[in-house]
Amino acid sequence: MERQWWQDKVAYQVWPKSFYDTNGDGIGDIPGIIEKLDYLQQLGIGILWLSPVYKSPLADQGYDIADYYAIDPRFGTMEDMDRLLAEADKRGIKVLMDLVVNHCSDEHPWFQKAVADPEGPYGQYFYFRKGKDGKPPCNWRSYFGGSVWSLVPGQTDLYYLHLFHKKQPDLNWENPALRQEIYKMINWWLDKGLAGFRIDAIVNIKKDLSFRDHPVDRPDGLADLHPMFQRPEVQKGLCDFLEELKENTFAPHNAFTVGEVFDTTPDKLAEFIGEKGHFSSMFDFAAHCFGMHEKGWCKAVQPTPTDYRDCCFASQKNAAGIGFLANIIENHDEPRGVSRYLPEGADSDAAKTCLATASLLLRGIPFLYQGQELGMSNTVFPSIQAVDDVSTLGEYQACLEEGMTPDEALAVCARYSRDNARTPVQWTDGPNAGFTTGTPWMPVNPNYTRINVQDQQGREGSVLEYYKKLISLRKDEKYKETLVWGQWEPLFEDQEGLMAYRRRADKDLLVICNLSDSPRSLALPGTIKKVLLTNQEGGPQPGFDRYAAQPWQAVVLEMDA
Ligand code: GLC
Ligand code: CA
Repeated sequence: MERQWWQDKVAYQVWPKSFYDTNGDGIGDIPGIIEKLDYLQQLGIGILWLSPVYKSPLADQGYDIADYYAIDPRFGTMEDMDRLLAEADKRGIKVLMDLVVNHCSDEHPWFQKAVADPEGPYGQYFYFRKGKDGKPPCNWRSYFGGSVWSLVPGQTDLYYLHLFHKKQPDLNWENPALRQEIYKMINWWLDKGLAGFRIDAIVNIKKDLSFRDHPVDRPDGLADLHPMFQRPEVQKGLCDFLEELKENTFAPHNAFTVGEVFDTTPDKLAEFIGEKGHFSSMFDFAAHCFGMHEKGWCKAVQPTPTDYRDCCFASQKNAAGIGFLANIIENHDEPRGVSRYLPEGADSDAAKTCLATASLLLRGIPFLYQGQELGMSNTVFPSIQAVDDVSTLGEYQACLEEGMTPDEALAVCARYSRDNARTPVQWTDGPNAGFTTGTPWMPVNPNYTRINVQDQQGREGSVLEYYKKLISLRKDEKYKETLVWGQWEPLFEDQEGLMAYRRRADKDLLVICNLSDSPRSLALPGTIKKVLLTNQEGGPQPGFDRYAAQPWQAVVLEMDA
């Protein structure tokens, strides 16, 4: 496979609203990201992904765009954005924006013109359909709960489709005029100097246009929309759209693209991220999907560290020889990884750095999410009224419909809510964790006095300093041939709670992460030449072919050739 400029980089996701506020309005902003570029550079970041900063009513926190060519004033100005690109460039950091083109905002002029004149050209930018027997055209449930159909304002029997929130009308990709508008916009941004995009919810752009009912599966009387993705004509249609998109935009710019791809199967990997794939990479969500249930969060099962490992390993095996997955432990849509994958009460710094090692040295490109490098964990939820996230509110409702008490429903939502990832980044132990001098738009996690940059920066043994070492090992000229492009092979797969693998090219490296609180003695495949990294004192010794792993110990070993 031909090598690509992005493969040896480590990426970092900024969710701007909670990153860093510079003007005291309690909302993170682009100048705040610029101020922290040195921090990101010291961490070793080579690619920065910005969640949406476009003009938006923020009904879904910016994933509802009202103007693709403007920056929302709460985040800054287009001059700020240009300055961010220039300043990032000086530090060798490439910038990706979020590309949200499955839907826009109901406050986008396209939608407003469509509402004003459903029969006119902009009516064709959306999916407007007549109702069926006084009801919406079909019974699909939106991702955030409730019907995917809402009445077009001012109409009594004309509906528009929204697979997500009702303020996020789906764009009609069947319309070539709409597609051209999208390509023009993408090229405008790429010409500005963006290195590429993270591509939101992209598999949704092709619909089953028959809009047939699916079997009702919950007390709300609605049905899962997912069966539509299994239809061959939908799969084929998606592929055609994605190829046209790539040829008209990303390919001529040699842009890096990472797709948010759910609902695909291993046999489709080559089509998505192979040499000629639709995207450069796609996120590996295997561990995030583990234990999820068709009834929603109320029936979800928590993964154990072994489940986590098995998910990651299955993905590594599937992608071998095909392409680079984007490996994550969390993002803005998921609870914090250390709260999800480590057993309850086991979130020591050792456990956090052990999980980090296990994830970052897999084959693929690692994406960190803001605060992950500090070991930020889930927050507290005093009441459902304190919840901001639209998807959590939908899941809460579903929990109640399944018969849970409000307290039980709140406990479940606290475990999975996207708000866990959306509390402000903890910069200091001072007021509001140093995130803002005003009132933060969302309360900071009360653990900021314990977990913050100020405390960890420069402190040997902190989670942050460990992340720096881990990232610099992956980038080290001596080892990157092996850690970036080398083969990946699982080790000790029969051992519960152990995530161990071998990376091989010109070097032979073992990554052994004891994701458990029991010590264990391991017979290694060869003799240790050098200990490249460990998250705890003691353990492996050069010259030995055995290693006594301590609880939550992670080691990276170079073996004799
Ligand atoms: C993606 C985004 C998520 C958003 C949704 C709708 O899943 O990551 O935050 O709510 O798409 O745009
Ligand atoms: Ca601000």
